[in-house]
Amino acid sequence: MGQEGVIMTNDDASACKRSAVAQGYWDDPFIPYFVRSFERKAPEIHRGYYARTQAVQRLTEAFLARCGDQSQVLSLGAGFDTLYWRLKSAGVRFSNYVELDFPMVTTRKLMYIQRQKGLLSAFQSEDGEVRISRSGLHADDYHLMPVDLARLADVRDVLSQCALRPDRPTVVLAECVLVYLEPTAARQLLAHLAATLATALFVNYEMVGVDDRFGQILVKNVRGRGCDLAGIDACNSDDTQIQRFTDTGWDGARVWRMDDVLRLLPAADVARMERLELLDELDVLLQLLQHYGIVVAWRDAADHDLGQLDFT
Ligand SMILES: C[S@@+](CC[C@H](N)C(=O)[O-])C[C@H]1O[C@@H](n2cnc3c(N)ncnc32)[C@H](O)[C@@H]1O
Repeated sequence: MGQEGVIMTNDDASACKRSAVAQGYWDDPFIPYFVRSFERKAPEIHRGYYARTQAVQRLTEAFLARCGDQSQVLSLGAGFDTLYWRLKSAGVRFSNYVELDFPMVTTRKLMYIQRQKGLLSAFQSEDGEVRISRSGLHADDYHLMPVDLARLADVRDVLSQCALRPDRPTVVLAECVLVYLEPTAARQLLAHLAATLATALFVNYEMVGVDDRFGQILVKNVRGRGCDLAGIDACNSDDTQIQRFTDTGWDGARVWRMDDVLRLLPAADVARMERLELLDELDVLLQLLQHYGIVVAWRDAADHDLGQLDFT
C-alpha cells in the first residue's frame, strides 16, 4: 500500500466534519477554510463525528484546565483538524500546539493557513512573525511539521524544532492514526513519548472490538478504500488497546466505546444534536458506535489524577 490511501483518509474525515458542521452538529467556523466542497453525509456519520469531536475537545480542555496554561498539545496525524483554532477562539490557554502529518498533508494545510486571515490571525507573535521552514510553519504557540510517524528518529528531530518541552504537561492526540502504523513503529513511538513526557495524557480515537462479525466487515470496508490497517490487531478489544500503552511505559489506560461517550457527554447538547436529523438505521448507528472508542493513557508523575479525567 502506498501512502495515498492513508493520506486520503484525511480528506474523508475533513469532508465528514464539514458536512456535520453544515448541519449544525457543532460549531466550527474554521473547517470551511480547509474544505470547500463536500457532499452531505448520512446522519449516522454526523452523529459518530459529533461524539468523536466533542470527546476529544472536552478531554483536551479538561487536561489543560487540570495541568495549567504551560501545558502543550501534540497532535499526531493531525490532518486538517481545527482544534487549535477552536481552543484559541474559546480563550483556552496553552503554551504550545504541535501538529504532525505526512508532507503531502502539511503542505496543503500550510497553503490554506497562509491564504486565510481568519486562520493566521490566531497566531500570537509579538512582531506578528510566522516562520516557514522546509514546508513547516512555526508561530509562537503553533507548529505544523511534516514527518512520517513511523520514523522515530525523524519524529524526535522534528519535535525538537517545534520547541516541545518534555518537562511540560502534554496532551497527545491521535484520531484514527495509530492503526495505519506497523505495530513495531507504533510501539516505538508510544514508548518514546512515555519515556520523555512525565506528565501526559494520550487521547487515541480509533476502532475497538473489531474481532466480531460487524468489526470484520468494518475492517474490510476500510481496507477496500486502499488502507492496509497495519496496526489493526491492537484494535481487537479494550484489553489490546489498554495493553499497547501499559506495555510501553504508560502508567495506566482506559477505554470508552462511543455509545458510552454519547451517554457521558452533556445530555442537553446530545438531545439537541439528536433532534437535528431523523435516523432510520438506529441499529447500524449503535453497531458503529460500539466498534469505535476513545482510549486514554496517562503518565502522571505530578499526581494530577489524570486517570480520572472525563468528558464532563
Ligand atoms: C483519518 S485521518 C485523521 C486526521 C485527523 N486526525 C482528524 O481526526 O481529522 C489520519 C491522518 O493520519 C495521518 N497519518 C497516518 N499515518 C501517518 C504517518 N505514518 N506519518 C504521518 N501521518 C500519518 C494521515 O496522513 C491522515 O492525515
